[in-house]
Amino acid sequence: MLSHRIDQSTELKLLERHHAGAIFRLVDANRDHLRPWFFWVDETKNVSDSEQFVQKALEGFARGTEIHLGIWVDGEMAGIVGAHTIDRIKCYAEIGYWLGERFQGRGIVTRAVRALIDELLGERGLNRVEIRCAASNRRSQGVAERLGFRREGRLKKATLVRGEFEDLLLFGMLAEEWRAGKGEGAGR
Ligand SMILES: CC(C)(COP(=O)(O)OP(=O)(O)OC[C@H]1O[C@@H](n2cnc3c(N)ncnc32)[C@H](O)[C@@H]1OP(=O)(O)O)[C@@H](O)C(=O)NCCC(=O)NCCS
Repeated sequence: MLSHRIDQSTELKLLERHHAGAIFRLVDANRDHLRPWFFWVDETKNVSDSEQFVQKALEGFARGTEIHLGIWVDGEMAGIVGAHTIDRIKCYAEIGYWLGERFQGRGIVTRAVRALIDELLGERGLNRVEIRCAASNRRSQGVAERLGFRREGRLKKATLVRGEFEDLLLFGMLAEEWRAGKGEGAGR
């Protein structure tokens, strides 16, 4: 088991096959909360769909192109944070995250993303990380802003929210900015 403790109650654990049940239960209990932002919610119909997700996540981890970590709060799965694209040629990664609705508002994802960025820009030596989120997703933008990301652009009608095309906001953070202290204090 690969894990990283963030604080007394919160731990990140590399997703493993035996986590599939916990992932499925959390998705199933939060369908209305997650559906606007993720196409995969309606495609997650039973535990075997979550098993397949974990299998692909582990294959990506082995290739070095993805990392997916469960966020565990007081021993309960609260959400997932990860880099679903790690490009080792261009030295950048794209980060994504979600929480069960009742775990929001406690800084959990901000702290989890902070730890993931330390891994990507520190340990793995990447140059840049990105967060992309729908223009109407204020909570997701809040995570990027709290961590000191720069808003770099607006991609017109580049995502789907509730079946409608919507603009996507692009946030970026460079390794040198992260080292210089942007994000310092965020989520602590
Ligand atoms: C996006 C999402 C993960 C953000 O969750 P969140 O709870 O707002 O983010 P955090 O866990 O970082 O918590 C931040 C909140 O906790 C508060 N907070 C409390 N203690 C804190 C601490 N120590 N550090 C930082 N924030 C803290 C912040 O003030 C903020 O509160 P606010 O909601 O009043 O602004 C969540 O809304 C979600 O899962 N949405 C659906 C899926 C989704 O949209 N994913 C992103 C797709 S791009």
